[in-house]
Amino acid sequence: MSERLEDIAAALVSGGKGLLAADESTSTIKKRFDAIGLESTEESRRDYREMLFTAEAMSDSISGVILYDETIRQSARDGTPLTDLIRKAGAIPGIKVDEGAKPLANFPGEKVTEGLDGLRERLKDYYARGARFAKWRAVIDIGDGLPTYGAIRANTHALARYAALCQQAGIVPIVEPEVLMDGPNAVHDVKTCYNVTEWTLKTLYEELYLARVTLEGTILKPNMVVAGKDCATQASPEEVVELTVKVFKAAVPVAVPGIAFLSGGQSDELATQHLSLINALGPHPWKITFSYGRALQAAALQAWNGRFENVAAGHRAFNHRARMNALAAKGEWTPELERQAA
Ligand code: 13P
Repeated sequence: MSERLEDIAAALVSGGKGLLAADESTSTIKKRFDAIGLESTEESRRDYREMLFTAEAMSDSISGVILYDETIRQSARDGTPLTDLIRKAGAIPGIKVDEGAKPLANFPGEKVTEGLDGLRERLKDYYARGARFAKWRAVIDIGDGLPTYGAIRANTHALARYAALCQQAGIVPIVEPEVLMDGPNAVHDVKTCYNVTEWTLKTLYEELYLARVTLEGTILKPNMVVAGKDCATQASPEEVVELTVKVFKAAVPVAVPGIAFLSGGQSDELATQHLSLINALGPHPWKITFSYGRALQAAALQAWNGRFENVAAGHRAFNHRARMNALAAKGEWTPELERQAA
């Protein structure tokens, strides 16, 4: 496989495949395991990820997997490094390198993502462990008077510095500026989400330009333009799709090879439906696919339920969801296919 950034980025978003975001931090995966009454230990986290990475759909629907620091160092029960399982399936291992969103000093209610200190050295280590792409997630809150210029500037500046360091290390940066749909300030309508997403993306591409990042060797991981979870007026799928494509046309340069969405709290099926409708509207100047965490894993986690005897059931659930999203990456998903294949 080519080591050029442009080729790695293209491989991640092409062929009707998409990304599996399996990079939940130890505290986030604990929340997911708590929901099924499973204790989160190094071993249970390993068993869960091993279940996902050995599913058949890994080789037909998944182009890359975003890992967490612990996971990139772990091996399967039989001693095979988990990164080898991923590569064996024809997918590319990636790594989450940010250290989480922390309160932004002087900006009540807003956060800035940390993790730049020491990043150069960590990237070298991750490269040696097989990672060829990375992820950094910034969060933008909508609320009363929020977001502020200061928070958008701080977050996109950090994303640009991260992206520049990645490219120097031979690693494709996934830049993820997530306009949140949940949280206490989530009473916002779809128009507000559009405006904030446009503002964020325009600022992001200005910062990436100033940091001399090669856009051809990056991938954008954005939210879709949706109403906040607690908003009384939810947008129709058609409206979501129209506004999401419109915001990209306004703010994402065509030098960017691919856009891979986060699911952000959308239901599994809605995340698939939105992606499919967006692609059915194409062709677009970018490949548009998925980089889902919750919307790819929720059903598989339920089916597996922490038990070795349920590995096959976990695989079935994951295969189904991943394949539905692969169809959506080509604009070919339908509710009928969803039912037939279930
Ligand atoms: P969700 O799809 O669950 O939003 O997670 C994707 C992700 O990687 C967030 O950083």
